[in-house]
Amino acid sequence: MRKIVINFLKNSSVGKEKMTRENIQNKITLADIKNHRKTDAPLVCLTSYTAPMTKILDPHCDILLVGDSLGMVVYGMENTVGVTMDMMINHGKAVVNSARHALVMVDMPYGTYEDDPAIALESAKRLMGETGCEALKLEVNKALAPTIELLVKNDIPVQAHIGLCPQSVIKEGGYKIKGKTNQEISDLIDDARACEKAGAFSILIEGTKEAASREISSAVKVPTVGIGASPACDGQILVTQDMLGMITDHTPKFVKKYSTLAEIIGEAVASYAKDVRARKFPDDKYVY
Ligand code: KIV
Repeated sequence: MRKIVINFLKNSSVGKEKMTRENIQNKITLADIKNHRKTDAPLVCLTSYTAPMTKILDPHCDILLVGDSLGMVVYGMENTVGVTMDMMINHGKAVVNSARHALVMVDMPYGTYEDDPAIALESAKRLMGETGCEALKLEVNKALAPTIELLVKNDIPVQAHIGLCPQSVIKEGGYKIKGKTNQEISDLIDDARACEKAGAFSILIEGTKEAASREISSAVKVPTVGIGASPACDGQILVTQDMLGMITDHTPKFVKKYSTLAEIIGEAVASYAKDVRARKFPDDKYVY
């Protein structure tokens, strides 16, 4: 899937280190994602919100999502509903400036696209223009297919997020698993097909029963990416801080913790605090 892509336009990006043939030949493009076949190795996706984390994640990932989960992960909000366009733009820029390999996608925040396709287009142009990202993700259902169509016609690549949509948490009274009945599965398939027909290059499925994810994934040609949606998807995504064990208050069932960073950081900081209080840091080695 990794094609040799030499995009000279990228050479002139302000604030980016100069791209050489070696460091751009591995760049994942939109075409790579669109051409992903169901039999290929699953797409590897994670969230990223900052430059230093992006540098660590980028070589391993196909897609980096600047998710509006940053509302909770970075800003300590209760949900994603209060996330603003300015937050998404600032974090989007930080990730775009540091990614060399993965495709960078940014979430459209709540309130910027749902009510009117013309407003959605204006918001999307601003978000793409100011961040320089390569795609946007919108939480949608089939009713929002015309919005996807308008964005795609205006050269804005869209990933459609269906199933459990966190921006609807207040309307739905919580985070509810989807695809529990045949009717729900059939509605989700309709949503996915309508989004694909409208031009979405991929479907993100969140919080669905395995049977639903399996049926959706085989109902569409574009790759599906799952979070809490079983291995039946064509790729997987997690919130990075969840899978690194940095979030200590609540871990959803679908998160596998690949590290215990909260503990590791806590131990390091405790050692620093002990050294400072004992006047052991800074010693001669760290003094000018
Ligand atoms: O905002 C986010 O991190 C997301 C993931 C849950 C996919 O949308």
